[in-house]
Amino acid sequence: MQYFIANWKQNFSLKEAQEWFSRFAPPSTKDQIIVATSHIHLGSITPSPQLSLAAQFVSPYDNGAHTGQIGAQQLRGLVDYCLVGHSETRKDLQETDQLVAQKVRLLQKANITPIVCLDLPYLESQIRVLLLELLEIKNLIFAYEPLSAIGTGQSESPQRANEIAFKITTLAHNRSLPILYGGSVDPFNVTDYLSQEYISGVLVGSASLDPEEFAKIIKPS
Ligand code: PGA
Repeated sequence: MQYFIANWKQNFSLKEAQEWFSRFAPPSTKDQIIVATSHIHLGSITPSPQLSLAAQFVSPYDNGAHTGQIGAQQLRGLVDYCLVGHSETRKDLQETDQLVAQKVRLLQKANITPIVCLDLPYLESQIRVLLLELLEIKNLIFAYEPLSAIGTGQSESPQRANEIAFKITTLAHNRSLPILYGGSVDPFNVTDYLSQEYISGVLVGSASLDPEEFAKIIKPS
């Protein structure tokens, strides 16, 4: 199974999101298509049966006195997946390795699959902290997203991305975890990533904002 994830980031009003879905016509596939939207879209958009939704943010706390937060239990039933540890949330929202690990635990408790983003400066420390928090790393997806490739058009070489994906499975002591690549993926380079042994999908930012462009990234199966 391969994963094709659109990361819309902070884009689209509710109306624009509805328009995106009305124009999105993916090829028929048995693979998993996921759209990571802002919280304001959740509950108002009904994606097609072929498609799952992801949140881009979750609180590191259980429900309670945490003004401004949205917790895993609140997202339950609205999304099947949630991004955590993206380099932008690490920077903008001070998401640390420890907070990422807490979020992963709470998401898994709510039956939501975490998509944990990693880059080299914190790849080893993040996996170590996850192992301490969870004891065993399973029921999650990793995405290798080198900062130099995000939104720059300078994608990482597929061979290098494959080496890092192998390193992640080794450090996590779990060869069956899906490892994705993200960073300037487009319809022209996507096949080079998907043909790598340890890469099972892509996380797409800029190219996912255009529904026709994102549909071209998805391979029919
Ligand atoms: P990009 O973003 O495709 O625009 O490089 C990827 C991401 O940040 O998830």
